[in-house]
Amino acid sequence: MEKEIHQHAIGLIARLLRERTGQVINEDRRWRVDRAIEMVLRQRGVTRSNDILSLLTQPDAASVEQELVEALLNNETYFFRDRQVFTLLAGTVIPALCRARGEDRTLRIWSAGCSTGQEPLSLAIMLIEQGLTEGNGWSVDLIATDVSEAAIATARTGCYSRFEIQRGLGVAQMLRHFEETPDGWQASRQLLGMIRYQTGNLLEGPPPGPPFDLILCRNLMIYFDDQAKQRACKELRGALAQHGRLLLGGGEGTLDPASGLVAATHDCALYRLGQRALAA
Ligand SMILES: C[S@@+](CC[C@H](N)C(=O)[O-])C[C@H]1O[C@@H](n2cnc3c(N)ncnc32)[C@H](O)[C@@H]1O
Repeated sequence: MEKEIHQHAIGLIARLLRERTGQVINEDRRWRVDRAIEMVLRQRGVTRSNDILSLLTQPDAASVEQELVEALLNNETYFFRDRQVFTLLAGTVIPALCRARGEDRTLRIWSAGCSTGQEPLSLAIMLIEQGLTEGNGWSVDLIATDVSEAAIATARTGCYSRFEIQRGLGVAQMLRHFEETPDGWQASRQLLGMIRYQTGNLLEGPPPGPPFDLILCRNLMIYFDDQAKQRACKELRGALAQHGRLLLGGGEGTLDPASGLVAATHDCALYRLGQRALAA
């Protein structure tokens, strides 16, 4: 009986995650739900795993639900993740976007599913290294969103442990853009001032405003089912400027041309609007 109740709880929580974020927990990843339940119960001083069901029906169920969803999201990230992608961005993609935006000298960039901020910070460092700064007459609007409130709260601090700062960042970049403090390595004001962090669910649409020249949506759709993937593609397509580029994660497979997004290069998961989307 206890086992049945526990399975019921796992099913409920998996459904909650799917409804809130589009993330699907397959059978082989169900152990993650067990771990999330244990974590939430421990934080509340409860020990019996079946008691998660009673917590989910109490008046503060909303906060229990939020904690469970947060515990189930995979926030893995690091600076300059897949470095060859940043080499391509710096060498080819950004220069082409700058040519397209040469007249008004503005760029709009969206890091969707930015986790704790390492991805948008890597972009900001790259933009500084490219000279795309206000001082040089460029106005760059870099927006970074994530469905996880905890991840966005951490990203906003711009403070990283020694382990985190050493993952992907070169020593020169680290010393130039971060300062060691008793709390950890603190990003410079210039870097943090370049990024607008917001909580947001990709499936509920892009941040408001004009279309984006560049969208990074990496390692977020891995656990989406086909339906969520289609919805995400529709939102991403609608948010992309005509000349814009969309970058997915390397291991996320290829997009169906019916998504309205087509490969822009064979080297990595870089996409542009397909002819049909352009004509629409
Ligand atoms: C594995 S991390 C990837 C972070 C970064 N893009 C990278 O590649 O290093 C995936 C992030 O996507 C976020 N995420 C998952 N589903 C989301 C959704 N529906 N909308 C927005 N963010 C989502 C998670 O909270 C997590 O922080």
